[in-house]
Amino acid sequence: MSLKKGPGGMELGECTRNPGYQNVEGDGSAAETINVDPGEKHDSSALKLDPDAVEEYTQIKPYAGMPKEVLLQYSSLARYRVPREILFWLTVACTLVLVALTITVIALSPRCLQWWQASPVYQVYPRSFKDSNGDGVGDLKGIQEQLDHFLYLNIKSVWLSPFYRSPMKDFGYDVEDFRDIDPLFGTMQDFEELLAEMHNKGLKLIMDFIPNHTSDRHRWFNLSRTRDPHYKDYYVWTDCNATGPKPNNWVSVFGNSSWTYDDVRGQCYLHQFLKEQPDLNFRNPNVYKDMTDIIHFWLEKGVDGFRMDAVKHMLEATHLRDEPQVDPSKPAESIQTEFDLHHDYTYTQLGLHDMLRGWRAVLDVYSREPGKYRFMVIESYDYQELEKTMMYYGTPLVRESDFPFNFYLLYLPQNTSGLWVKDLVHLWMANMPKGKWPNWVVGNHDKPRIASSAGQTYTRVINMLLLTLPGTPTTYYGEELGMENINVTDSQIQDPAGKYNASASRDPGRSPMQWNGDMNAGFNIKTNITWLPVHPDYRSVNVEVQMKDEGSVLAQYRFLNTLRQSELPLHRGWFCYVHADASVFSYLRELDGLDRAFLIVLNFGKESATTDLSSIRELPDQLKVLMSTNQINNGKVLQKSRILTEAAEGLVIQYSTHTRFNPNHPEQCYVSEKACYLSAIDILYKC
Ligand code: GLC
Repeated sequence: MSLKKGPGGMELGECTRNPGYQNVEGDGSAAETINVDPGEKHDSSALKLDPDAVEEYTQIKPYAGMPKEVLLQYSSLARYRVPREILFWLTVACTLVLVALTITVIALSPRCLQWWQASPVYQVYPRSFKDSNGDGVGDLKGIQEQLDHFLYLNIKSVWLSPFYRSPMKDFGYDVEDFRDIDPLFGTMQDFEELLAEMHNKGLKLIMDFIPNHTSDRHRWFNLSRTRDPHYKDYYVWTDCNATGPKPNNWVSVFGNSSWTYDDVRGQCYLHQFLKEQPDLNFRNPNVYKDMTDIIHFWLEKGVDGFRMDAVKHMLEATHLRDEPQVDPSKPAESIQTEFDLHHDYTYTQLGLHDMLRGWRAVLDVYSREPGKYRFMVIESYDYQELEKTMMYYGTPLVRESDFPFNFYLLYLPQNTSGLWVKDLVHLWMANMPKGKWPNWVVGNHDKPRIASSAGQTYTRVINMLLLTLPGTPTTYYGEELGMENINVTDSQIQDPAGKYNASASRDPGRSPMQWNGDMNAGFNIKTNITWLPVHPDYRSVNVEVQMKDEGSVLAQYRFLNTLRQSELPLHRGWFCYVHADASVFSYLRELDGLDRAFLIVLNFGKESATTDLSSIRELPDQLKVLMSTNQINNGKVLQKSRILTEAAEGLVIQYSTHTRFNPNHPEQCYVSEKACYLSAIDILYKC
């Protein structure tokens, strides 16, 4: 055989024999073999193959190291080409099918719950949680020491009340430096370590952000009162004299006029809280910008969200007119509390939501990082004006907070009856914008403890309500134990609001966390000082004791929270009212497609009650108690026509059903985002 040699080419016959290539059927002579030195460089464009030679060439077998031209020759043979093309088109088809499948799965999947939906929010009041250095005040290192408490409870989201540098006139809600940590609580390094450790343990840290005011010791205020050109309008100033009448009738939340004369500047400044908490002037765009920079600062550090403090106070009418009195016949000089006025010019002014939406947009930018959703919750007490609270949910087109705190269950102690509790729950459910996520608060650092105001007996049933309603529960530290208010004598009062009016003191609900039965309830194990007294019941009401007792408030909280997170109907299913009377409030939690459902029966009354649910035909006749707040009733089997509950008892009943309640009673049911369960392949889909 022969191959023509082209320019720069070669003649195969001249090549060295390649021992790797042998025609096993032939004798290995040059006539039957093609042998190319793999080390030689070839000009492939120049190599021309003689058709006769190719004929022969196809008779031979491929070998390792053959040149590209020879390889191409082989690869164009049908026996190589056809399978290759089949494989190619198969790959294309599979890729298309996979892409289509992925798009379908994404389109059909309901959204996953975010961390702030999956777990309750646990509020830590840092002064009172754990004191690591023995000065009687809790601190960041103390919180870090106790992180396992959250893991034990199955809690992932922790909101820390403020720990910024502060003169502590309002215990940290008067901020002297938004970029620094108060030495009482530790250092920036302590904060960074705490955050890193929380993230290591899968916990999220929500900070308090206080936009309405600063401390009067803040640098901006000092520059403002000395009329520094940049800062002179950072606060709300107006003319007045030291001894003359106030600029108008506006009153502070803590009582008395919200104007104080500043003799450095010779004008009055506005403060809707303490006189040591001057209101920032958000009409000045630089103030908004500076506060936004502070949000960036903490987001850069890695915080997972903000609880935005007292936002409804952020803007005031510039005309500074008197606000209308609730009772116009009252003498003007007797107007002293926020409840004496309609706050037409100081609360929820036009422009407030734009500012909050701007901050939301900042959080959204930081949320783009996968798994790093940044959360925003609003504090706004709007009392009867529920529609104002709902505005903080944003609109279908513009995002705002993830939710505003729902404070309506704070009214629960006013009337412990099933109907009352249902009304309070319904208030939120009926007014919340469609598709939004509810939430529930029964206590915080500004309110008396629920175990005291509703009565210790109701602690368990209230926790059961919180953890079985749809949406995010908030738990103020100690509520998982049933901690109660302490008695604070007048001389012990710490809270500025209490100094103004002892009955408004918030100290009783801020006593040290009860960890164990040792000195200071384990809050401070180094010295015998605590900034507020420890509750005298700490020997029986504490974490250590309750961890050992399966029937304790703590163990029940933990059980319910774990159940809430592990059971689809409880954390993302339908919520349907089935009954409410003077004692009992009862509802169902179910999910379309899932046969496992839950009936919750809560007796908020003072007597035992028998509830007849025989008209609910979707319920089986016999019902087994999965968990009762009264441990001895666990596992009991009840007839649906006679569901017995003792006073303050709550039942979680798990049952099996093929018929769902919600399709036949849409007016009694609510779901944030509908999802259905497909048992055949164990998945959730949009339905
Ligand atoms: C919020 C806080 C409260 C504080 C007030 C003024 O309402 O919860 O504790 O006193 O704002 O900052």
